[in-house]
Amino acid sequence: MEDESITGALSFDDFEAIGDGLIHHGWAVIPSFLPAATALALAAEAQAHWQAGAFRQAGVGRGAGWVQRPDIRSDEVFWMEGEDLSPTLVTTLGKLDALKQHLNRSLFAGLEDFEVHLARYGRGAFYARHIDQFEDTTRRAISVVLYLNHQWRSQDGGALRLWTTPAPGRTPPSPKTPYIEVWPEAGTLVVFRSADFWHEVRRARRTRLSLTGWFLRRASNPLEQVL
Ligand code: OGA
Ligand code: MN
Repeated sequence: MEDESITGALSFDDFEAIGDGLIHHGWAVIPSFLPAATALALAAEAQAHWQAGAFRQAGVGRGAGWVQRPDIRSDEVFWMEGEDLSPTLVTTLGKLDALKQHLNRSLFAGLEDFEVHLARYGRGAFYARHIDQFEDTTRRAISVVLYLNHQWRSQDGGALRLWTTPAPGRTPPSPKTPYIEVWPEAGTLVVFRSADFWHEVRRARRTRLSLTGWFLRRASNPLEQVL
């Protein structure tokens, strides 16, 4: 059972707005997906994990192709394991899982798994323009980014810039393509189709924390290859 003091009311209005946004635009921004107090409790936990040395410099690519590229991204990430999860995190991940189920029920989205990490951008860190799908797998279907920062101001930099025209096939947006910018304010959630939307994290001028994850579609069924 969800603890609503942590998640806010399990808001089906929010879930429906996200479903509508994904259908009509491919993305959605929900300013108060979580109560700010919950997001700030998660931020305190993230900082404690960081101080305990749990974060690692992020990389790009995966498997044997994984490399650190501080010229592309300079954030640090912490892939959480079961034993690291506090009650607040469990409840928050539960709400995101409920969102995944909602998208499966209402859009037949076929989302099976969820992978998630905490990300920390120190002062000066950024993530250059990219899309979230790897070159060798299309399992990442939907990206979700939940921000954990108290009273973010425009002079703090660190906006998420999301180009709002879908660009399938890994074609980067032309200079005229419109974009939105989202401040990483506590409780705000951004959701977008992982394959189609180029985005970047502008250089942060203060510590910037988020919980970032991907809803994964089913791995291809080996039977499909033989039948
Ligand atoms: C990512 C990413 C966006 C953000 O981790 O892939 O693009 O606003 N994050 O933190
Ligand atoms: Mn990304």
